Amino acid sequence: MLTLGVNIDHIATIRQARRTVEPEPVAAAVLAELAGADGITVHLREDRRHIQDRDVRLLRETVRTHLNLEMAPTEEMVAIACQLKPDYVTLVPEKREEVTTEGGLDLVGNLPRLGGVVEQLQGADIPVSWFIDADAVQIEAAAKTKAMFIELHTGKYADAPDGKTRELELAALQEGAKQAIAAGLRVNAGHGLTYWNVYPVACIPGMEELNIGHSIISRAVLVGMERAVREMKLAMWGKL
Ligand code: PXP
Repeated sequence: MLTLGVNIDHIATIRQARRTVEPEPVAAAVLAELAGADGITVHLREDRRHIQDRDVRLLRETVRTHLNLEMAPTEEMVAIACQLKPDYVTLVPEKREEVTTEGGLDLVGNLPRLGGVVEQLQGADIPVSWFIDADAVQIEAAAKTKAMFIELHTGKYADAPDGKTRELELAALQEGAKQAIAAGLRVNAGHGLTYWNVYPVACIPGMEELNIGHSIISRAVLVGMERAVREMKLAMWGKL
């Protein structure tokens, strides 16, 4: 059954805006879980702009569903993951200047190094997911590693300037999911998904988990975390 991973990075963004102690990401995770979140996702960035090391430590102790740690494939992050043991890790590209993750990882150009990162993490019993574009060459490269999952980058679909482009991007996601599943990979998706664009992605055959952050936190600011998560689940079932 399709599941929802709620990304709570932007709860920490609000806290870090004042370098203070609230709002508390652990509290947000508890409320999200009470409302039906199937997992909690956080991105520990190299520059620590939102989620901090202590957040990941506390979430590891308190999350009752599953904890997905998004991180860059660096030595520092691999060491943190091996110590904290999230339920799975999503490897993402990271640039200091970017506002948010801008695209999928380039696996093709970096396969020997990145394949080694997967072996280290999965050797420590942490399943790995590659955040990649719905691109046949990248999916083929992902299948050459021992990673269990890919997360298809839905940003281009979400940002499509018109309906025709959105249809083409959706078709690329559908095709990418099919290719990945045929190659033995499990498939998640995320980035830029909202209450209005989630349903077609939720309907892609074989899709396992959607990781959604900004849209839920934006709604939560206005209507509260529990209602925002409940309503996203309804949107995923086409019932909002
Ligand atoms: N998946 C990945 C790999 C991401 O990097 C992000 C953003 O942190 C998300 C999903 C969630 O994206 P959004 O906040 O746009 O829902």
